[in-house]
Amino acid sequence: MSTVHDESIHSSCSHHHGNGKSPHSSCDHHHGNAESADTSCGHRERPLEQVKNIIAVASGKGGVGKSTFAVNLAISLAQTGAKVGLIDADLYGPSIPTMFGLPDTKPEVVGKNLVPLEKYGVKLMSIGFLIDIDTAVIWRGPMASSAIKQFISEVNWNELDYLIFDLPPGTGDIQITITHSVPLTGAIIVTTPQEVAISDVSKALSMFRKVNVPILGLVENMSYYELSDGSRDYIFGNQGGETFAKTHGLAFLGSIPIDRSVREGGDNGTPCLLSYPDSVTSKAFKQAAIEVARRVSMINAGQ
Ligand SMILES: Nc1ncnc2c1ncn2[C@@H]1O[C@H](COP(=O)(O)OP(=O)(O)OP(=O)(O)O)[C@@H](O)[C@H]1O
Ligand SMILES: [Mg+2]
Repeated sequence: MSTVHDESIHSSCSHHHGNGKSPHSSCDHHHGNAESADTSCGHRERPLEQVKNIIAVASGKGGVGKSTFAVNLAISLAQTGAKVGLIDADLYGPSIPTMFGLPDTKPEVVGKNLVPLEKYGVKLMSIGFLIDIDTAVIWRGPMASSAIKQFISEVNWNELDYLIFDLPPGTGDIQITITHSVPLTGAIIVTTPQEVAISDVSKALSMFRKVNVPILGLVENMSYYELSDGSRDYIFGNQGGETFAKTHGLAFLGSIPIDRSVREGGDNGTPCLLSYPDSVTSKAFKQAAIEVARRVSMINAGQ
């Protein structure tokens, strides 16, 4: 196991939770305000007991590349040897089945629980695995919330170093359910550089701040397009994300260029990280994943 996560900081509680195999106790999580979490160091098992770090990938605006970043982050972390799970929390527009090339695969059911699918070293759950992806989901808020809760507590995630939530855009019911149901280690905000996307970042930030979820940092996606002569075309503006991060005291996790291989990989189910592991773009994803892991360990260490 080669994550940068420091297990020792999770060992201050001597009570045994769950089956006792969990490498850490729920009672010394420092962050999140999950209603169902056992913060009093009692014996009740919290959901995701065996998951060390829970990360939400969010944005203010839609279509900025949250799912793309979440997929490549999950695979990058898995490639470092970490145990990784990914929950597609976008019930109204699930992307994970397509992005992982699993459009028609159904998860196994064991007892009352679902077994996550697994591909590229990542455990996966999406509403798209359970219902026809072309059927419009017309659930009202409470139904969406209960579906998300099932993804959290009725899926056999077992031991994970990282569980990543790919959130829908904005700050709606699903985001609120997640921030209240699990102790998030932190949130990653994805934005494109232009003003209209940046201006919505503040809304996502204030949502997480309200519920005391630390912000791991900001990722700027679609930062530039590299022309054939090697020069860069800043299609959506130059460094809007990085500048925003600096002004608001956020860690900047990296810039991901606009790259045809990213879009193609998303559509054909083989993320660019796997088809073009040495491209500038894949390296940018991997670097951002290293930065995320580093920020997670800093938060766990109370820094
Ligand atoms: N860096 C990039 N270069 C090229 N295409 C990209 C890049 N990032 C994302 N895309 C493409 O842009 C589209 C939108 O990306 P994605 O679905 O990841 O956004 P999203 O923020 O998750 O959207 P939604 O808000 O609908 O969930 C996809 O077709 C994806 O392949
Ligand atoms: Mg998405």
